[in-house]
Amino acid sequence: MYYNWEENTSTEELKVICNLIKNGELIIFPTETVYGIGANALDAEAVGKIFIAKGRPSDNPLIVHVASKEEIYNIATDITEVEEKLIESFMPGPFTIILKKKENVLPDIVTAGLDTVAVRMPNNLIAQAIITFSGVPIAAPSANISGKPSGTNISDIRNELESKVSAIIDGGDSSIGLESTVVKVINEIPVILRPGKITPEEIREVAGNVEIDKKVFEQVGKDEKVESPGMKHRHYAPNTKCQLIYAKDEKNQIFEINKRVRKYKGDVVVIGFTEHKKDIVVSEGRYIDIGSKHDLEAFAKNIYSELRNADKIKPEIILIEGVPKEGLGIAIMNRLLRTCEYDYFEYKE
Ligand code: TXA
Ligand code: MG
Repeated sequence: MYYNWEENTSTEELKVICNLIKNGELIIFPTETVYGIGANALDAEAVGKIFIAKGRPSDNPLIVHVASKEEIYNIATDITEVEEKLIESFMPGPFTIILKKKENVLPDIVTAGLDTVAVRMPNNLIAQAIITFSGVPIAAPSANISGKPSGTNISDIRNELESKVSAIIDGGDSSIGLESTVVKVINEIPVILRPGKITPEEIREVAGNVEIDKKVFEQVGKDEKVESPGMKHRHYAPNTKCQLIYAKDEKNQIFEINKRVRKYKGDVVVIGFTEHKKDIVVSEGRYIDIGSKHDLEAFAKNIYSELRNADKIKPEIILIEGVPKEGLGIAIMNRLLRTCEYDYFEYKE
């Protein structure tokens, strides 16, 4: 069943949707970061369906979505002062915190058997309504087949997921477009396991300290131990191979991209800035304008959808302009490195 929330979702329909959740069904619902594919987090069988629908490895735990601070205390325990500060400052919002899991509440499948749980309180009103009226926490990963770019609008994911869920709730384009910042407090220091819209600077301001896990920009070895299982898996990638190109100096960046356009005899799609369109020499329809170089928010919001669009053209390679690893650029580069399976060229000035 498809519901267009913006146009006409009534209280009756909200009841139907929430009953599906309570009855162990899957739904696709909007959040401010990306769409989620959700199930009742207290129901092991329902959560099992998420792993099947996505083809998700069972060692990759899910985020549990709640609508109030009290609910955090129902599923997590031993919350420290630093954790409390982060919760107060960033929740609700595009922020996920890894907490000690309370015993005998959530089934093991949700947390992949770990003794911690990832908790998020979205600030999207549709998500909040669904969680509140379902009356249960909702386990939800991003709505996409495992490994593919996350869904940031319904038309991008409808074909790949519609047959696997009981309801799709269309809330328009995701306003942020990249998944939440994931943080775990280790020895009283907030460590960013997955960067997002909430930046290291913002976290430092609140907690007095912050670290970025070194795996945020590094490839994880096959048997390497990581803080977050999601770091190990292939992610955010279309079918076409992709390459990420970055030079601090803009002329060099354009030069390096044009060099590759020639190397692939024009059989490329370039995802680049508005300002570079005139300088990058590709044929009609082969340049995807991701927005101004000064507008990383637009980059974040549009990148997953544009990767899917680039894929449809079926070029030999998708060339993507990199951004400085600062602020929101940290999250963008973290995702793009995985999109490109670490095929990354950085021009040394
Ligand atoms: O914005 C978001 O966070 C979206 C929306 C739907 O809320 N959700 C999302 O979920 O991105 P997912 O499953 O695609 O990513 C969750 C990440 C994974 O990298 C997973 O490994 C990590 O969070 N994670 C979950 N539980 C964890 C835990 N207990 N310890 C460490 N990492 C955990
Ligand atoms: Mg995901």
